[in-house]
Amino acid sequence: MEDATRAHHRLDRLPARRRFDEVECTISHLLRLPHPALGGRRYGEALLQGIGSRGIGPGQRGVLEIGGGAGHLAEAAWRGDAGPFTQSRWTSLDLSPALLRAQRRRLLEPSQPGGAHRRWQGLRADAVALPLRTRSFDGLILANEMMADLPAERGRNAGAIELVLEIARVLSSGGAAVLSEFGGDFDPAPIRLLAAFGQGEHLEWSIDFRQLRDAAEGAGLAVEQLPLHELLGADLSVRCASYTDLWRLRRFTSCEVFAAPAEEVRRRHPLLSRLLSLELPLLGSPHWPDATASGGFAQLFRALILRRR
Ligand SMILES: C[S@@+](CC[C@H](N)C(=O)[O-])C[C@H]1O[C@@H](n2cnc3c(N)ncnc32)[C@H](O)[C@@H]1O
Repeated sequence: MEDATRAHHRLDRLPARRRFDEVECTISHLLRLPHPALGGRRYGEALLQGIGSRGIGPGQRGVLEIGGGAGHLAEAAWRGDAGPFTQSRWTSLDLSPALLRAQRRRLLEPSQPGGAHRRWQGLRADAVALPLRTRSFDGLILANEMMADLPAERGRNAGAIELVLEIARVLSSGGAAVLSEFGGDFDPAPIRLLAAFGQGEHLEWSIDFRQLRDAAEGAGLAVEQLPLHELLGADLSVRCASYTDLWRLRRFTSCEVFAAPAEEVRRRHPLLSRLLSLELPLLGSPHWPDATASGGFAQLFRALILRRR
């Protein structure tokens, strides 16, 4: 029987904006615009520069992005400075028809700076069955904040482990993969996500990174793990709007779901920021991005770097 979260994404009709503003607001969505905590870079630029600085490049095959969401990483690589990945060939593999449409709109828009992406293609497929030949991929496979969507069963991140094994199958010499997600060295735990009126409701699982490291090493890959903020080179001392702050603000006024710096929020909404006692926490605080969670971006988000030895 098909996993319910997989079916949810396969049949997804929710507009991309509603999905990321209201159902599952990813770190990359909150930092998708140039941000002082990233030295004025967009999340996609900071991530790809961080990956590039570790000696990983696009090879002949470019980037295969799994679960590209609204297409912000591909856009940053085409229109911004993504180190060795700037304007490289980019394939986006996704299960959601709505998100593939949103990516296509964003990337093939000719009036944007840099014009339409001339080296992008979208592919509707499943992360755990990559449509690639064994040992054929010499570039970068990127799965940013998507593994939590893959099924877990009996304390095992079964889907994420399958993805790691697929990556081990398809990477050729020189190829690498970067997988980021929330989790740690603890058992997978479920989290139910939904917007108003239950729209977009689905179950996600935190990642037990011990299981992924074991699977990758068992499949012969070299494994490195680090906090995601380190890979991004993020300044954790910058204060900015958390998702919780934005949710409260948006009950009274309209504003972008973006981790705007604290001074900007106070300048734009002087009265509301005081009346609502907005916290505007440090990026490194356990309250960012979600004041009600047990830990935040700095504590819970990790990146796994896998390379073909
Ligand atoms: C939480 S979003 C993350 C989007 C984006 N990477 C970001 O950082 O904002 C998860 C993405 O993975 C896709 N996805 C979920 N399950 C998938 C699967 N089994 N195969 C391929 N893509 C999947 C979703 O459609 C969506 O694009």
